[in-house]
Amino acid sequence: MEQLAEIAGSVGTPFYLYDGDLVRERIARLRAALGDAPHRICYAVKANDALALVRLARDEGLGADIVSGGELWKALAAGMPAERIVFSGAGKRRDEIRAALEADVGSINVESPGELDIVAEEARALGIVARVAARLNPDVEPGTHAYVATGHGTSKFGLAASQVLAEIRRAAADPALAPIGISFHVGSQLLDPEPVFAAAERAAEVWRELAAEGVELRDLDAGGGLGVPYRGGDDLDVEAYARRLARLAGELGATLVLEPGRYLVAPAGTFVTRVLYVKEVPGRRVAICDGGMNDLVRPALYDAFHPIALVGAEGRERGQVDVVGPVCETGDFLALGRELPLPEPGDLVAVGYAGAYGRVMASTYNARPLCAEVLAEGGRWRVIREAGTYEDLVRGESP
Ligand code: LLP
Repeated sequence: MEQLAEIAGSVGTPFYLYDGDLVRERIARLRAALGDAPHRICYAVKANDALALVRLARDEGLGADIVSGGELWKALAAGMPAERIVFSGAGKRRDEIRAALEADVGSINVESPGELDIVAEEARALGIVARVAARLNPDVEPGTHAYVATGHGTSKFGLAASQVLAEIRRAAADPALAPIGISFHVGSQLLDPEPVFAAAERAAEVWRELAAEGVELRDLDAGGGLGVPYRGGDDLDVEAYARRLARLAGELGATLVLEPGRYLVAPAGTFVTRVLYVKEVPGRRVAICDGGMNDLVRPALYDAFHPIALVGAEGRERGQVDVVGPVCETGDFLALGRELPLPEPGDLVAVGYAGAYGRVMASTYNARPLCAEVLAEGGRWRVIREAGTYEDLVRGESP
């Protein structure tokens, strides 16, 4: 907490602070849970694409799960070896597919028959063989927020089992394509892993059917989705999760691929903002801060809960507080009706579990520049991305 005041004094507010040591610990924990089972962990860059964190993931031996040409570019810029990259996503453009093939990424996980056509065309044009996996829509109920559920049959993601069979057979018959696996991703912020296991069973059925036809695959990619305890309490039983998936992959002779994002980085991030004003409005005590939905949109978008602490306010009288941002929308809040020490102008507010889907989802709404990011490791901290400037706000614009 002392460090927060020091950093705030130096870089200004708001900012994101990441605990690199904690990210390493979580990587180690997941890896230990997988033990000797053949596996690859591909960090879901979408959760937090700060170059320093992608570099950290690379240094820890992880690969990357990417979903756009921009993420490909960033992953390569961070030094991620292309062969460790899997390219997921429902809407890949032709130029993004070409860039991924040129970089020679480990796998392109296709989600539409038309996408496989484009991968084949581009591979032929480049004179290479494209490694592809097909993303299965497992048709399971993920039991998470509707906006981040992906594995139900009516979602836009993946292919039905019959389509996966058809696309993998098509890939096996095309000399420009090498089918290497089946992937799925049930949804995000899963606190109950059962739907992932159900999805894995369905993927295994498809896998076995293909194996019986002589199509040999390598990767069973179970996606991401491991939830974190935003409201406190224990972490998910990552050992049980890993053990069960590893056993299933083992039965198939598959390499298990995981694409965790949130699990690795959410608890390691803190969003720090400063209270500008405190005011009483009928029935509410409102603390207006200098950071809001433009910096951290999860509360506004998903009604998400993030733990909040007021730095250095421990001894104060407590009460219910609405912690809100400066943006001109009533939906701009970080927390509503939270029991906290009574805030005062100038207080620092630490919003916890903000390392995933925080800064990456930030915008410059209300013409507020993007905030800075800081990485702490081994007791030291450094700015890994400077705050945006007003010049950045008009870059590329013509009046
Ligand atoms: N793999 C695929 C194919 C995905 O679509 C995702 C997340 C992941 C892996 C990583 O999932 P994770 O381990 O982080 O749950 N913005 C939302 C979350 C969106 C997740 C999208 N896909 C939020 O703030 O909760």
